[in-house]
Amino acid sequence: MKGIILAGGSATRLRPLTKITSKQLLPVYDQPMIYYPIQTLVSSGITDILIIISPQYSGQFLNLLGSGKEFGARFSYAIQEEPKGLADAFIVGEDFIDNDNVTMILGDNIFDNHGFAKEIKSFKSGAMVFAKKVTDPERFGVVEFDEEGKVLSIVEKPKESKSDYAVVGLYTYDSRVIKYAKSLKPSARGEIEITDLNNLFLKKGELKVNLFEGLWADAGTFDSLLEVSNYMANKALNAKK
Ligand code: TTP
Repeated sequence: MKGIILAGGSATRLRPLTKITSKQLLPVYDQPMIYYPIQTLVSSGITDILIIISPQYSGQFLNLLGSGKEFGARFSYAIQEEPKGLADAFIVGEDFIDNDNVTMILGDNIFDNHGFAKEIKSFKSGAMVFAKKVTDPERFGVVEFDEEGKVLSIVEKPKESKSDYAVVGLYTYDSRVIKYAKSLKPSARGEIEITDLNNLFLKKGELKVNLFEGLWADAGTFDSLLEVSNYMANKALNAKK
């Protein structure tokens, strides 16, 4: 299993903080944000990791993260010239993925008590995502279930959502994901959508959705960044007690 951290993007919601650096290099309590997705992958048994970054701040990422040795991992880097969407990770990462399975994590998604290792280690083929009950599903890809709990579809940022379950930012696929990503057409917002990718696997009956119970934060807004920083500060305080 290989890993990809998607750490490019425009980070418009965090301006002016992101006028001079990348969102994923901003602090979350005592660590740069990207340390968290790195730790999530490494603790899930994934050490061969491609970090996708935007051209503007690539030097800063290299200076901070280097070879990956410090994290018990091996890092490769790729530049995404323009933010073309989350599914573009598998096109930018084509050579890196090769014929292997891959888990992609968003560079601004922070997990705690995740227990991903077990599911990732037993993954064989198809696609696997995790869904968590949230109060603001309209901000995310929302999983619709039928009465028996069978997944019907995943809808990107629905105006009126049919469930409270959002897809979190960690996705596992077999290497067909490259071919499927290349087949996608950009959405109205001009991006190739990971939700469309997941629906392709769903249509083939090859999408597994696990419910996720741990902490999940998308640190891409001022409020969520502050909230997750406070969470990590409290966690560190409790660990000292
Ligand atoms: P988003 O938070 O959806 O987008 P963004 O980071 O550009 O922020 P904003 O909406 O405030 O402008 O992205 C989720 C993660 O994926 C984040 O870590 C950035 C990354 N990303 C890329 O690396 N490339 C892309 O093409 C996109 C859309 C996102």
